[in-house]
Parts: sequence; structure tokens; C-alpha cells
Amino acid sequence: MNIDIQHTDLQVQCEVHGNQIVQRIKSIDGLEFNFDHTPECPACCIEQNAAKEREQDERRKLERVQHLITAAQPPRRHEGTTFDDYTTTSSAQKRILEICRRYTNNIASQGYPGWLALSGRPGTGKTMLLSCIAVDLAKNHVRSRYTTQAAMGREFRATYQRGAERSETSLFDYYAQIPLLLLDELGASSTEHTDRLVFEVLDTRYANNLPVVIATNHPRAALQEVVGERLFDRLTEEATFLAFDWESNRKPAGLRNKNRETSPARTDTHSS
Ligand SMILES: Nc1ncnc2c1ncn2[C@@H]1O[C@H](COP(=O)(O)OP(=O)(O)O)[C@@H](O)[C@H]1O
Ligand SMILES: [Mg+2]
Ligand SMILES: [Zn+2]
Repeated sequence: MNIDIQHTDLQVQCEVHGNQIVQRIKSIDGLEFNFDHTPECPACCIEQNAAKEREQDERRKLERVQHLITAAQPPRRHEGTTFDDYTTTSSAQKRILEICRRYTNNIASQGYPGWLALSGRPGTGKTMLLSCIAVDLAKNHVRSRYTTQAAMGREFRATYQRGAERSETSLFDYYAQIPLLLLDELGASSTEHTDRLVFEVLDTRYANNLPVVIATNHPRAALQEVVGERLFDRLTEEATFLAFDWESNRKPAGLRNKNRETSPARTDTHSS
């Protein structure tokens, strides 16, 4: 049995798209439809849907970036820090910033830029730059992980507990395979346990050509004593050493408060 469907063309006047024709069903088997409202402009509908989809895409992308930043675990205070926040006052700082940017871009485009070793006194911006690298990679949808030698030791010790959520092997594989490892405070609070862990993780990454950025308060010359000969060998072979040999950027809390309360014009940034 054939069903008799009749169509009709309706005219829609759109301020943006002008005169548009919309086809509607007028009747089915002689049963008439009432058009109780004028149809919307079809071109406007298409545009609105596309805009909604773009918005959703954008939101999903932002969520993914935020997820990657959270997973990278940079220090809280630096979660929103980017390379643009890193101020440079000397050519040495400019050079180091440029090297870190290039290094990050290289990893984002799936290259292997070797290792980086950031070495210098406290307060010279090493941790900040490690965080910038993690945040920038997240924006490029690349996973990375920030940690310190001490924190890594604690994380491994937690896996030795009975009923631990994660096994030691699974944690080891995670550190051995993450696309970029950012290891801060190398050689600080070093114990036989953390020294061995750091060596094994870095040695595995070395064997697999996976990048590592380390930061340390020890100058290059003192590092062999601190990290041992085997790891020092890996570092000298694989890492570009960057010396942070300028004054600390960290204002002592007392001075900072005094500035805020009494003398906003003072810009002394030196600390011990
Ligand atoms: N070049 C810089 N530009 C802006 N802030 C900086 C810079 N260097 C250091 N800082 C700030 O100084 C403080 C100490 O830096 P941090 O990265 O923790 O030093 P480090 O890890 O070398 O001890 C942080 O608050 C950091 O944001
Ligand atoms: Mg630091
Ligand atoms: Zn329209």
C-alpha cells in the first residue's frame, strides 16, 4: 500500500542569510499538518550546530590538557606556569630558556633531544623551568612526570607495603617508560635506596633512548661524588649541562612582607 505524502515549500526570511526555502511535510494520506510556528533558518541551524561542536571540542581538549598537567604532578605553585612567565635578565638566562623551549618542542614533535641537566644554587629557577616543560608538553598532549629523588623513593617504598595499590614493577615500568621524566633535586636526601632506584630508572631510560631532565643544586664537578660514577658516566654522555650561575630569585619571606607593607618601591631580590 502506498502512503501519499505531500510536501510544501516554506519561505524563511533570515537577517543573515536572506530568503531561505524550507521543505516541510504538508499532509500524509490527506491528513493535513498544521505549521504552528515558522521554521528556523536552515543555514543558521547548521552554523549553530557547528559552533556547539567546536565549543565541545575545545572543552574536551582543555580537559585533556588539565588532566595531563595533573598527572605530570609539577609543584602546585607552578601548575599554571609557562615559559612566558620565565623572565630573563642576562644572556645566560635567555640561552637556557631558549634551550629548554627547543628541547620541549623537539619532544613534542617526537624527536629524541638527549638529556638535560640543570645545575645551580637554590632559587635560580630550575624547578620553575622543569614545570614549564611539563606544562608545555601537556599542551602538546605529551605525558611527562615531575618528581624529586626523595619523592620517588617514598613512592616506591609505598609499593612495598602489604596490600599496596600499585606493585613495584608497575611503578618502575611507569618511570622507565613515561615519555619524559623530570627529576628534581638529584643528589639531595640521597640514600642507598633512592640512589639505586634513580640509577636503575635512568639506566633503563638510557638504554631505551628516552629523555630525562634532571635538576640539582650540585655543580657539575661535584656531581660524580654525589650520584656515583656509573650514573655520572650516563649523565656526561647523554646530558647537556646548563649552569644556573646567577643570584637566587627567591625573596626571603620577611623581605617580601616588608616590601608589601611598607616600601613597595624596593626591588631588592637578593637572598643568601
Ligand atoms: N627567571 C625567573 N623568572 C620568574 N620567576 C623566577 C625565575 N627564576 C626563579 N623564579 C621564581 O623564584 C622562585 C624560586 O625558583 P625555583 O624554580 O624554585 O628555584 P630552584 O628550583 O632553582 O631552587 C620561584 O618562585 C620561581 O617562580
Ligand atoms: Mg628547586
Ligand atoms: Zn540564517
